[in-house]
Amino acid sequence: MSLTVRPVEYADQPDYTRLGAEAFGTPAAGRPVPTREEWAAAGFREWGAFDDGDLAARLRVYGFTSWFHGARVPTAGVAGVAVAPERRGSGHLARLFGAALDEARDRGDVISTLFPTAPGIYRGLGYEVVGSFDDVDVPVQNLGRVAAPDGVVTRRAGVADFDAIVAVHRAWAAAQNGPVSRAEKPFWTPPEKFFADYTGVTLAVSAGGSAGAAGDVVGFASWNRGDGYTPATAVMEVDDLIALTPDAARALWRTLGSFSTVVGTARVSTSGLDPAWLVLPDLTSTVHAANPYMLRILDVAGALGGVQAPLEGARVPFAVRGGQDLAGAWTLTVSDGVTHLERDAIAVEDAHHERPVLSPNGLALLYAGAESAANLRIAGHLTGLPDQDAVLSALFAGRRLHVRDYF
Ligand SMILES: CC(C)(COP(=O)(O)OP(=O)(O)OC[C@H]1O[C@@H](n2cnc3c(N)ncnc32)[C@H](O)[C@@H]1OP(=O)(O)O)[C@@H](O)C(=O)NCCC(=O)NCCS
Repeated sequence: MSLTVRPVEYADQPDYTRLGAEAFGTPAAGRPVPTREEWAAAGFREWGAFDDGDLAARLRVYGFTSWFHGARVPTAGVAGVAVAPERRGSGHLARLFGAALDEARDRGDVISTLFPTAPGIYRGLGYEVVGSFDDVDVPVQNLGRVAAPDGVVTRRAGVADFDAIVAVHRAWAAAQNGPVSRAEKPFWTPPEKFFADYTGVTLAVSAGGSAGAAGDVVGFASWNRGDGYTPATAVMEVDDLIALTPDAARALWRTLGSFSTVVGTARVSTSGLDPAWLVLPDLTSTVHAANPYMLRILDVAGALGGVQAPLEGARVPFAVRGGQDLAGAWTLTVSDGVTHLERDAIAVEDAHHERPVLSPNGLALLYAGAESAANLRIAGHLTGLPDQDAVLSALFAGRRLHVRDYF
């Protein structure tokens, strides 16, 4: 059989759609093939592996920016990965990813991320789990125990508040590693559609005094009320609950808590240790669904260079082994508050004796600030000279991993 890997064209859409429906299930109404206009306007890139002309494997790449280390980083988000059942286990994925990620790198993407159905599918390709996007069930009745906010009130948002909501999301996201910036398709939403997607968007607003100028928006929650008014069965879904102050968090949680006579559960999207949850007084929430998030570096110098770093004067030679496109040796220095990377002419096989050596997965974990150098050694993702481990750990560890958009 001859395997051809190429971008998917509109003429391939019936096969592409059918393979996706087979893999991920078909809604009762069936999964329609997009019109040419819908497909062209969607803004993603699709790739296929064709066995003697038949579509054997497919994926989709979204090009967007995500926040890492205080900057918006060009990211290739991969989704909709599927191999035809009869062709599974043939190693098609490696070639499909090779082509799609080469193109992403050429376009300037320096990292790639995805939500796996199983992490083992992507480990060999250099991806590693760096965080998790979770839906967590919070008993609404207990939210009445959250302390009353001081100097923050809530009010319903309207279209005129859209820029303030975007600003709250940006202020929060810039302080994390991982959040999708929502500045590009398919995550950018026109204001009217954003509000049409929810029953309500509630703002936390400063009442003046120490909480900021009166009227400042310091948090928001976007929610869908759900059906019914029996607390035992009614569930409301909260997509974002983002607070820039503890009183904003208290105000938003208590507003959700005011539904306690008619809604039993608030299903709230979150990730990791979320600061907005630090005002909750009990431990009664449970994870309803967890979506681990994986990351791969596409361009070592592009991703690790130019990063805001506090360790002025630091100098760390390191190497990456394996992962054809990532293997090599570099020296990282910090000057003027940012990292600089210079390529070293040293064989990776010889690097163990004189510098730390990372696997592609270790590189992903380190960059995301998800693991310390000590844990990378325990996991087998870091070998070689250990004397710079403390610096390596500190360089990229300044922000926690959070992601709030599924694709
Ligand atoms: C998951 C799927 C894409 C894998 O296809 P495949 O042809 O078996 O993949 P490959 O043979 O190229 O194997 C790639 C790697 O995935 C691993 N893998 C395959 N199925 C796996 C599973 N169910 N759990 C964990 N790892 C798995 C293989 O061991 C291999 O690992 P290696 O590179 O370390 O050797 C295919 O089974 C499929 O289409 N499943 C249904 C849809 C789906 O789950 N898609 C993934 C969406 S994120």
